[in-house]
Amino acid sequence: MATILETHGLSMEFRGFRALDGVDLRVEGGTVHAIIGPNGAGKTTLFNLLSGLLRPTRGRMLFEGRDVTGLPPHEIARRGIARSFQITSVFPHLTVLDNVRLALGARTRLGYAFWLPERVLARFDEEASAILASVGLADQRHRPASALAYGQKRVLEIGLALALHPTLLLLDEPTAGLSLEEIARVVDPIRRVARERTVVLVEHNMGVVAALSQRITVLQRGRVLAEGTYEELRAHPAVIEAYLGGAA
Ligand SMILES: Nc1ncnc2c1ncn2[C@@H]1O[C@H](COP(=O)(O)OP(=O)(O)O)[C@@H](O)[C@H]1O
Ligand SMILES: [Mg+2]
Repeated sequence: MATILETHGLSMEFRGFRALDGVDLRVEGGTVHAIIGPNGAGKTTLFNLLSGLLRPTRGRMLFEGRDVTGLPPHEIARRGIARSFQITSVFPHLTVLDNVRLALGARTRLGYAFWLPERVLARFDEEASAILASVGLADQRHRPASALAYGQKRVLEIGLALALHPTLLLLDEPTAGLSLEEIARVVDPIRRVARERTVVLVEHNMGVVAALSQRITVLQRGRVLAEGTYEELRAHPAVIEAYLGGAA
């Protein structure tokens, strides 16, 4: 297993406030690596840096051995890091299949154009179907995205991120706002998607973290508090104290 992503001393200050403070992260290719920590720990800030939305105030990021520090989001995406955004990226009136076909079209510089003729979109049928199958939405393909259950929409967002052909997929709280029943239905698609790429997952639900991830980094107040497997961390005094509480 080779390292696919590393950060060295990654730091982000907002008007003097250190949201991220010297984070050294190492993600092995082909794994699901979870980032956990209390609210305000800096998890989303870390994702904003990794996806190029923010430029770090200090530190470096390397992806596949190359320095990607400070690159803009489109360039980061082009290199193979994609992030699943929330519902904003789904076109509600279009079918599930058309949402994925358009995302694939956008990647090939045709742009997000609703007026793309059917024969152009048809080029993406096969790949769109494969993506929908991989996230378990094949039977929903002809429904308008707006008709999907909330949990299915979250899964569709993951499908749209896959249209970018990422080698590294960033998922920020994919189960947020889902019922227990819906959470169970999101775990399988994520596991399937993770078979073919590396996933970095920010997640609050420890059952989901335990089910999916091989390695976990615990952030607290912008710093790495601990790192290890789920089993290691649930026996880690500082983690129990700071985050897992008695529930671990
Ligand atoms: N754009 C911003 N401007 C100022 N402070 C911010 C900004 N983004 C995040 N923060 C602060 O940085 C800290 C970490 O936030 P965040 O990364 O969203 O934490 P998490 O995702 O772990 O809950 C919080 O205290 C938050 O208020
Ligand atoms: Mg967050």
